[in-house]
Parts: sequence; C-alpha cells; structure tokens
Amino acid sequence: MSSASATTVLLTGATGYIGSHTWLALLSAGYRVVGVDDFSNSSPVVLERLARLSGQTPVFERADVCDAAAMRQVFATHRPQALVHFAAFKAVGESTQQPLAYYRNNIGGLINICEQMREHGCKRIVFSSSATVYGVPESLPLREDAPLAAVNPYGSTKLIGETILRDLGAADPDWQTASLRYFNPVGAHESGLIGEDPRGTPNNLMPYVAQVAVGRRDRLSVFGDDYPTPDGTGVRDYIHVLDLAEGHVAALRFLLAGRESITVNLGTGRGYSVLELVRAYEAASGRAVPYDVVPRRAGDVAACYADPTLAEQRLGWRARYDLTRMCEDSWRWQSLNPHGFEPT
Ligand code: NAD
Ligand code: WQD
Repeated sequence: MSSASATTVLLTGATGYIGSHTWLALLSAGYRVVGVDDFSNSSPVVLERLARLSGQTPVFERADVCDAAAMRQVFATHRPQALVHFAAFKAVGESTQQPLAYYRNNIGGLINICEQMREHGCKRIVFSSSATVYGVPESLPLREDAPLAAVNPYGSTKLIGETILRDLGAADPDWQTASLRYFNPVGAHESGLIGEDPRGTPNNLMPYVAQVAVGRRDRLSVFGDDYPTPDGTGVRDYIHVLDLAEGHVAALRFLLAGRESITVNLGTGRGYSVLELVRAYEAASGRAVPYDVVPRRAGDVAACYADPTLAEQRLGWRARYDLTRMCEDSWRWQSLNPHGFEPT
C-alpha cells in the first residue's frame, strides 16, 4: 500500500458539504490535501473552520473545475497523485429547469478534470455518484448490479459520469476509478463547526427539519403519506456524512493499493421513513417539528436503500453511525450556526 504521507490528493468541491468532511478525514489519515472550489455553492468561512479543526492552514486554490487553464495551473503547482471529485451542481429540481447548466458543470467539469489528469500522468480518481442512478428501484435493497436509469438531468450527469470513467478505464488500464453511489448524506462533524448549509429553501429532508427545529421555518411539508411503506411516508437510507467521508478514504486506499476500478454503494442498508426521521430529530433536539402532509413530490420513489455488502467486502468499509447520532450531530451544527456559515 502507498504511504499516505507521500500522497497528494486533489479534492474538488472541497469546501462543500461532503468535501469539507472528507478533507478532514483525509488529513487525519495522513494525506496531503489540496482543495479546489469556486464557492458557487459554499462559503470561504469553511476554510477557517477547517483550519481550526485540523490545526493547519488548508492548502486551497479557488478555481472553476471547468476552466482548463486554471486547472492546468493547479495540477502543475501541486502534482497530485489522486483526485476526489466532488465539484458538481446537485439540485434535482433545478436540473430539470436548467439542464444545460448541469451538463456543462457536471460533465464539462469531469471531462476537463480527466484531461488534466491524463496530461499530468495522474490516473486515480474517486467520483461522487449517487443512488439516483438506480432510477425507480425494481427491488430492494439495491445492489450495484441493479438496473440503472436516469430520471432527471442531474441523474443523467451521474450516469454519464460513471460511463465516462468506465470508458476511460477500458481504453487505458492505467486508469483506476472508483464511482461511489451515495444514498442520503446527513449529519455534521461532531464539533458543530462544519455541516450542510443549503442556500435558499432546503431541497432535502434533514436540513429542512433542522431549520424548522431551530425556528428558521414554521412547518415541514411531508410529501405524501400514501406510499406503500409502513407509515405511508417515503423511506430512505440516511448515511452520516462522517461515514461517507471514511468511505472516500477507504476508496482512495483501495485505488492507491493498485486495485481495479470499482463502483460501490455507500449506504447503511437500513431505511427510515420521513416520520421516523422527524421523531428522531425531535428527540435529539428537544424541539418540536410540526408538519403538514401535502401531496407527493414529483419524481419521488416510495423507498430506496442500499445493499452495502460490496463496500464492506471490497473496501473494508461499513457505516458506523445510527439515525440518533445523525440527528444529534445535525442539531449541534444547526443550533450553533442557525444561519449556516454566513453571519446573521
Ligand atoms: P455541495 O454543493 O455542498 O458541494 C459541492 C461543491 O462543489 C460546492 O462547494 C461548490 O461550490 C463546488 N462546485 C460546484 N461546481 C464547481 C465548479 N465548476 N468548480 C469548482 N467548484 C465547484 O454538495 P455536496 O452535498 O457536498 O455534494 C458533493 C458531491 O456529491 C456532488 O457531486 C453531488 O452531486 C454528490 N452527491 C451528493 C448527494 C447529497 O445528497 N448531498 C448525494 C449523492 C451525490
Ligand atoms: C427524502 C424523503 C421526500 C423534503 C435527493 C436526490 C438524490 C440525492 C439525495 C444527490 C423523501 C421527503 C423531503 C421535504 C419531505 N442527491 N421530503 N419533505 O429525494 O431521497 O434524494 O437527495 O445525489 O439524487 O434526489 O432526498 O432529502 O429530498 O427526500 O417529505 O421537505 O423526504 O419525499 O421521501 P431524496 P430528500
């Protein structure tokens, strides 16, 4: 296995929600990390928080991953041995309204990154894919060999991203790629110093619940209670962002050990309903989360959860944290930073 201390890892989307937690996990594992972000969906304050948490000044370049000249400069300066590529737009609804922006950023960015990697002889990449590539599940839990389908432009960008990496590996076996299919990332670092800070109205359940609990929003809308699930509300595989971050460390180790390319689920294997999550959040926060049941949200599926066996077998990784811990850590972050990274 390569020595972590000798390895420079370039992290794109590094100041984002998952990127910032993974940055810390990689530093703890002994990697040298260079972060890149254009702050299109994150705050520079993250860098100050990372400095406090890690006790070192983050090595950071502000750049757009679609900008070939800027990325060439980053590669020439830092000479990374591996990439973890988070930078992308991620709002499903927005992707249906602005498909070109999503294809340009998510696909254009990935192609540019891969061209720079090839130019600089760096052919190991961990890619942020998503459970959305399974479309409407035919059966559960979802194994990696389940049928794939893109059900919105965002999902298409993840499916195409996986395909690009697979084709690269087929054309040149020196490429070692890991596509990680995240289920529903939630929670925050246990310090409460970094966490998810959505701009505008949160699209995702836990950040919305957190903002209701802290008093920023009045009530949660529960999107449908007539699904064929135990309590009628949607069931998802929520995974602590700290577990997800460790999954990236494990995937990177796997690639640096010279293993083959891999596509794996990162989930817990356990589904929770919307109402179960609401109750867990109320217990963790000691706050009420009032809600109204409203019609289903277009494009939602009844239930979605992972079979996480492959990640355990191949990467030696499994999720450790339960829903209570996810809610407790989310609440610590939300209550310490009611307005996220921005001052009120
Ligand atoms: P995020 O928006 O918090 O982080 C993404 C970061 O990328 C942001 O800091 C943003 O400023 C940056 N970025 C976007 N476009 C860029 C560009 N052109 N150049 C440089 N930086 C750019 O999102 P996240 O939740 O941390 O997600 C990280 C990755 O994981 C994304 O690829 C996302 O699609 C994927 N993913 C997220 C989820 C989820 O629910 N959070 C689930 C599955 C997959
Ligand atoms: C979870 C459950 C909703 C908000 C999305 C993307 C997916 C991936 C993760 C990036 C569902 C219900 C939600 C609310 C609610 N992202 N809900 N009220 O839809 O499983 O996945 O994020 O790759 O691609 O689609 O997550 O958190 O939006 O919803 O009732 O205000 O909560 O109906 O059952 P989802 P979510």
